[in-house]
Amino acid sequence: MEVDRRAFIASIGGAAAVAAMSHEAKADALEHYMEDQLDEQVAANQGGQEKFPTVAEIEAQIETRPFRRGTGSVFTGQRGQNVKKITPMPDKPTLKDFFELRFAPANHVLQSATRAMKTGMTEEVILACLLHDCVLSLIKPDHGWWGAQLFEPYIPEKSAFAIRYHQTLRFFPDEQAGYEYPDQYYRIFGHDYQPPQYIQDTYKMLKNHKWYMEPRLVTVNDLYAFDPNAKVSIEPFEDIIGRHFKQPKEGLGYDNSPSAHMWRTLARPDNPL
Ligand SMILES: [Fe+2]
Ligand SMILES: [Fe+2]
Repeated sequence: MEVDRRAFIASIGGAAAVAAMSHEAKADALEHYMEDQLDEQVAANQGGQEKFPTVAEIEAQIETRPFRRGTGSVFTGQRGQNVKKITPMPDKPTLKDFFELRFAPANHVLQSATRAMKTGMTEEVILACLLHDCVLSLIKPDHGWWGAQLFEPYIPEKSAFAIRYHQTLRFFPDEQAGYEYPDQYYRIFGHDYQPPQYIQDTYKMLKNHKWYMEPRLVTVNDLYAFDPNAKVSIEPFEDIIGRHFKQPKEGLGYDNSPSAHMWRTLARPDNPL
């Protein structure tokens, strides 16, 4: 994205205001400005042809931020603002507690799961849709693999498989299944982005896998899950969670499972070590 210097300086109150700002504040302001510009472009182009950034343009944004793009959402402030004090988790936290206190607002996953339920998917797929992006609170790169690892000790194998591989299948359209390459990926990766070799290899493996449709159905439900007006909650999924999520009696983080440390990191993200 090209930055119009004059418009940018004017947008934050003129040259004097800029001179009084710290380096970080300037970087934040620039990022805000670029995000706003992007939103404006999206709005202006509705119905028309949106101009998507290139990989090089996305790379140029790296040094405009005081944090890396892949940082989990509990570790960064919204839109460049400071983080807020986080609510402590109860002693023996459950999945529902994490939804309320660490994954919130969780609209995207709740909308995905709602759609999966309405369209009559299996309970394993509904559960996978409900959990597929929750790990983004912790970390973003390779979120399919991280997410599967986080939930694996507690959910059916098919649901973990679906979570792990939805990340890969998002890059590959499947017309028959009703999945198109998402415009959102042109926006966030660049329109000329090529997924790395390990993603291509994973796709090859998945195409011939008997469980191909599990992660594919997560992507199918993913696509329609950004409705700002939809009202969603975890309640409709409590029965499915009860049947398929093995809540440890010690609480998530304290049961010595292979992913217990990941739950603890989510629970106490302000610990220095
Ligand atoms: Fe995802
Ligand atoms: Fe998603």
